[in-house]
Amino acid sequence: MLIKSLQLKNFRNYAEETFSFDEGLNVLTGANAQGKTNAAEAVFLLCTGYSPRASKDLQLVKKGEERAEISCVAESRYGRIDIEMVINRADKKSVKINSTPILRIGELLGNVNSVFFNPGELKLVKETPEDRRRFMNISLSQMSKNYLHALNRYNKILQQRNNLLKERDRDTVYETLPIWDAEIAKYAAKIVVRRNEFLSTLSPLAEEAHAALSGGKETLKISAESGWKGDEAEVADGILKALKASYEKDMRLGFTNVGPHRDDMKILLNGEDVKVYGSQGQQRTVALSIKLAETQIFKSRFNEYPVLILDDVLSELDKVRRRRLIARINGIQTIITCTNAEKSVFGDTPYKKMTISDGKLKKISLKV
Ligand SMILES: Nc1ncnc2c1ncn2[C@@H]1O[C@H](COP(=O)(O)OP(=O)(O)OP(=O)(O)O)[C@@H](O)[C@H]1O
Ligand SMILES: [Mg+2]
Repeated sequence: MLIKSLQLKNFRNYAEETFSFDEGLNVLTGANAQGKTNAAEAVFLLCTGYSPRASKDLQLVKKGEERAEISCVAESRYGRIDIEMVINRADKKSVKINSTPILRIGELLGNVNSVFFNPGELKLVKETPEDRRRFMNISLSQMSKNYLHALNRYNKILQQRNNLLKERDRDTVYETLPIWDAEIAKYAAKIVVRRNEFLSTLSPLAEEAHAALSGGKETLKISAESGWKGDEAEVADGILKALKASYEKDMRLGFTNVGPHRDDMKILLNGEDVKVYGSQGQQRTVALSIKLAETQIFKSRFNEYPVLILDDVLSELDKVRRRRLIARINGIQTIITCTNAEKSVFGDTPYKKMTISDGKLKKISLKV
């Protein structure tokens, strides 16, 4: 996957700007608060429909403007892909792929794959199960339309089941729950089985990346913290039983207590929960290793690397780890943001340096 160019109009602090990216390392540099992360964010947004940091679309539109327009030209093994997105302050965002409007934002996924990492992604290791589910959902949805479909169906039925649980008439609830359960178990099983596969592939790759970055030999094990194992039929059966066993509790609390919407990822470093026992540096390296492992999974699945976006990651690593990271991403188109883009940071790796100041691309130079 390659992002060839990016165009921004009234996006965040950009009035109008065009970037063109090289195949290897692209470095967006400049002082704080100039628009480095904003440009990186736009790339990921075009690839996935998802902003890693905006909770509302209107935050993306330049202050004082009504609408933002962003687009990129990308290239995959199958040819050129043009993605255009319009974000209206008042309305839903709309997207065209190769000039054809798409109906649901989810259709974007799987066209141009991208992996995003910034210091905030530490929450993948440190914070709530929801953060880890989001990671799995975004990654798996990019890899598999079936997963995305199962997830959408699951969430819809789950919501209906939860509405039913709030119903006062217990007889109605008892009669109707089994109807939802069969459906919900079917989609839940698809989600669980794919997450299990994903995590068992991810685990050794992340361990290897972690060893390469840290130079150490700590063991890193990642697994699903759900307890559902086996093929789809077995998992569906297990979930169905668990749903039935949870009727009383579900009715009392007014929502569904079991299923993949409650699952988590277990991350163990040297056998201990990294969230609880890991040092700040270990947690950071684990989070980065997981993302690097994710890029490997994309590569083996699609026969090409995703676009890797590393926002503000270098400042958090010491010189040795920085070098190891740069060596590790060799061959992957990477967009890095950082305040210090001196040549010494990147060693022998050539890069395209783009200096950003106040929402404008001021200077471009090639460092070889
Ligand atoms: N919707 C918006 N309209 C106008 N300006 C915005 C909007 N959203 C964010 N900004 C501004 O964009 C500026 C640049 O943000 P960005 O996060 O890209 O900085 P950065 O170059 O990555 O800085 P740092 O080195 O601190 O990470 C900020 O000053 C912010 O106030
Ligand atoms: Mg930034």
